[in-house]
Amino acid sequence: MKLAILPGDGIGPEIVAQAVKVLKALNLNMTMTEAPIGGAGYEASGDPLPDATLQLALDSDAVLLGAVGDWKYDKLERHLRPERGLLRIRKALNLFANLRPALLYPELAGASTLKPEVVSGLDIMIVRELTGDIYFGQPRGISTLPNGEREGINTMRYCESEIRRIGRVAFDIAMKRRQPGQKAKVCSVDKANVLETTELWRQVMIELSAEYPEVELSHMYVDNAAMQLIRAPKQFDVMVTGNIFGDILSDEASMLTGSIGMLPSASLDENNKGMYEPSHGSAPDIAGKNIANPLATILSAAMMLRYTFNDESNALRIENAVKKALAQGYRTADIATDGCKQVGCSEMGDAVVAAL
Ligand code: IPM
Ligand code: MG
Repeated sequence: MKLAILPGDGIGPEIVAQAVKVLKALNLNMTMTEAPIGGAGYEASGDPLPDATLQLALDSDAVLLGAVGDWKYDKLERHLRPERGLLRIRKALNLFANLRPALLYPELAGASTLKPEVVSGLDIMIVRELTGDIYFGQPRGISTLPNGEREGINTMRYCESEIRRIGRVAFDIAMKRRQPGQKAKVCSVDKANVLETTELWRQVMIELSAEYPEVELSHMYVDNAAMQLIRAPKQFDVMVTGNIFGDILSDEASMLTGSIGMLPSASLDENNKGMYEPSHGSAPDIAGKNIANPLATILSAAMMLRYTFNDESNALRIENAVKKALAQGYRTADIATDGCKQVGCSEMGDAVVAAL
């Protein structure tokens, strides 16, 4: 098993170090090679996605990524900014399927801003399309109109095959997640009342659902979905949506669970090769202080074992170790409550290793 380790910027290096520690403790037959991306890539070779980093990722079975971005790069030309490195590697590896589970650990029910009864038992899987939509559509850019006024353009665009392949991922996951005695459910989120792109999205989802009679497909407009996620989040099981809506809804869903510091993600291609990263960002304001929450990255490593390496038992071992560390009262600052054992980033990594 070949693993590319891309720590990135901000808190990226410290949180990735904890996930590496956990993986090493499992004694798997895995080689790990590190390379820079984002601002670190720009510092190393003037490119947020250096050629050598992309090559390493292409040659590896999976990629473990920390986070990219730092306000100090905000003044760079757009193509040199850290975020471009992330978008380019997603596209280059064809990682069209982004899985963002929002799972509430019972120990953290009090950390959510919502009432415990609204979020307890929450277990949602957001399936976000990751290589299309307004993020990549052409034309794009900022230009000057004949009257001298500037105009910004981005293009929302999806073709049928892109919609169908992400739809399949969502339907397949819904079938796997189905609990005995319950129906598999997919809620497709769109804005079909206004945007033709997502009118097509809805049509293709309906066509595809004919192949999945066991799955109950519903549709929701994105504005309503944003509201329903706060009002009654437990109505959802699998949500499938496009790149921009998924970006927004997954941040929203993460806070239902208490902290965005808890949410892992997997980005997969057609062959389950994947890149695994926390759903949160690089948090430059707390970087280097050993206070970041490494659990989202550690849980991303568990997703990696599950989805790319088909190693369910070690994935569960990591997830159970995280639960155990939480049950033992260990908390980083973002999820700290009265009476807990507040620890730093590396101590939290140690607590998970000890719980393995
Ligand atoms: C995410 C992030 C990225 C995105 C940024 C950093 C480009 O917000 O992974 O959700 O918008 O996809
Ligand atoms: Mg985002």
